[in-house]
Amino acid sequence: MTRKIWRWCRRIWQALRGTAPPAAPPVEANEDGSMTLVRFLDESGQFNYDQYRAVQVEGNLRKLDRVWALEPNLKFAAERIRRWAGEPLVFGLCHGTRRGLEQRWLAQSLGCQVLGTDISESATQFENSIQWDFHQAKPEWLGSVDFIYSNSWDHSFDPETCMQVWLSCLRPGGVCVLEHSSEHEPISVRALDPFKVTLPVLTERLEAWGRGQWTLREVVETPSRVAGATSQHLIVLQRTGIES
Ligand SMILES: C[S@@+](CC[C@H](N)C(=O)[O-])C[C@H]1O[C@@H](n2cnc3c(N)ncnc32)[C@H](O)[C@@H]1O
Repeated sequence: MTRKIWRWCRRIWQALRGTAPPAAPPVEANEDGSMTLVRFLDESGQFNYDQYRAVQVEGNLRKLDRVWALEPNLKFAAERIRRWAGEPLVFGLCHGTRRGLEQRWLAQSLGCQVLGTDISESATQFENSIQWDFHQAKPEWLGSVDFIYSNSWDHSFDPETCMQVWLSCLRPGGVCVLEHSSEHEPISVRALDPFKVTLPVLTERLEAWGRGQWTLREVVETPSRVAGATSQHLIVLQRTGIES
């Protein structure tokens, strides 16, 4: 509360002196429409985590009966994980899993432990799921996870930091598989999935954000598509450290 009052005093003082910084736009966007990122800002222009979290939890509970992931695509993701990460596969993470079917399908295909995260309290209702914000890593995950899968990366409020956190959890040679479809593209701006991006711009960003810590190994079409999608791909990133 005291910090909030202090920020307001500072802004009033800056405004009076004519030095107030311009307000950040509520949506960051590429001019050509290839990327949009909704910011969650409070009235003083600071990131409002509570607002972000509330939007995500509301969306999760409203759509709790739905599953976006498709089993054939998870079986295919398992093949790509085996191809790139090699053996042994002991532990994997799936981020933003709602009903947790992706961790079940990957665990069945790969014969290892797979844990799902979801920001919503509903996570505790589902098998091998924990309530957890995927922008953070548990200390025991750092450098030790064999693979990560997610189709929910577009729910990140800060995708660059998010990718750095995920990749920091992988062991050297471990892989991160992101599923991208035409539904992840910027058709409409929505707070529920704040980061919308075309496939070419996403892959370009992922390569730039890696800064030598990971390599983009492949972008492959999925065997199945969600209803209405005109394209759907898996993007495979590999943590550097070993050459395969
Ligand atoms: C589009 S749904 C996809 C659910 C699931 N992957 C599927 O295929 O059915 C996105 C999920 O990500 C979760 N989510 C959003 N932001 C998150 C965050 N920061 N950390 C963890 N989970 C998050 C939401 O609660 C929601 O369940």
